[in-house]
This record gives sequence, C-alpha cells and structure tokens, in this order.
Amino acid sequence: MKPRFFLTSLMLLSGFGHAFGQDSAEIVELVQASGCLSCHSVKEKIVGPALQDVATKYAGNVDAVGSLTQSIKYGSRGKWGRMAMPPHSSISAEDLTTLATWVMSHKP
Ligand code: HEC
Repeated sequence: MKPRFFLTSLMLLSGFGHAFGQDSAEIVELVQASGCLSCHSVKEKIVGPALQDVATKYAGNVDAVGSLTQSIKYGSRGKWGRMAMPPHSSISAEDLTTLATWVMSHKP
C-alpha cells in the first residue's frame, strides 16, 4: 500500500477528513490539544452541542467571537441543555480567539 493512500484511509476511517475538510493542520492540532473533541464534533451533538449549531445560533450576533471566547474560558451552562461546559482557564487569549473564530467558521 502506498504511504499516501494509507494515510488518507486512516483519516477517512477516523472521520477526520470529514470533520476537518477545510481546516488547516494548525487549527486541527489546537482543537485536539485543547480537548474540545471529547465533548464536541462539528456536525453532531455529543456531550456539547454540534459546533455548526453553535455557529448557526450566533450567526447574527456581531460579538459572537467575543461571547464564545468567554463561554470557552469561563465555562457555560444552561444555554444548550442540562450539561455544563467546564472552564478552560489555561488556554491563552490568542488561542481562545482562534478557537471561537474557528467555531464561527462553521456557519452553513
Ligand atoms: C467536558 C465536555 C466539554 C469540553 C471538554 C468542551 N466543551 Fe464546549 N460545551 C460543552 C457543553 C455541555 C456545552 C453546552 C453548555 C450550555 O448549555 O451552556 C458546550 C458549549 C460550547 C459552546 C457554546 C457556548 C455558548 O455560549 O453558547 C462553544 C463555542 C464550545 N462549547 C466550544 C468548546 C471548545 C472550543 C472547547 C475546547 C477548548 C470545548 N468547547 C470543550 C461541553 C464541553
């Protein structure tokens, strides 16, 4: 098997290509390193809401990135259901903005 084909199959098998179709390697790495994917996926609700639903909900909000930055940093409860998101206080301001901008990039 050619290495390139092997890699592509692995990515497809893990659903990686599907979820991160248009995203850069840097953002994928940041999202993974930040642990977001244990509770979120782009298209489906897991513990937390599907990130594309978040982007849809805040699509008309001019300060969506700012407000999502706060939710990620300080945690969030009561907006989506019974589960709360714990705070992520160790993520830098710069990375928080990158993550919130990435979430908002999934508007359909
Ligand atoms: C332990 C599970 C868990 C982890 C880890 C987690 N989330 Fe969440 N997230 C949730 C839950 C549950 C909600 C819904 C909270 C609510 O109802 O207010 C949520 C909500 C959100 C929202 C919507 C907030 C709002 O104001 O409406 C965003 C954006 C978000 N998460 C992004 C992230 C990002 C980015 C990461 C990684 C740094 C992350 N989440 C990690 C569980 C998690």
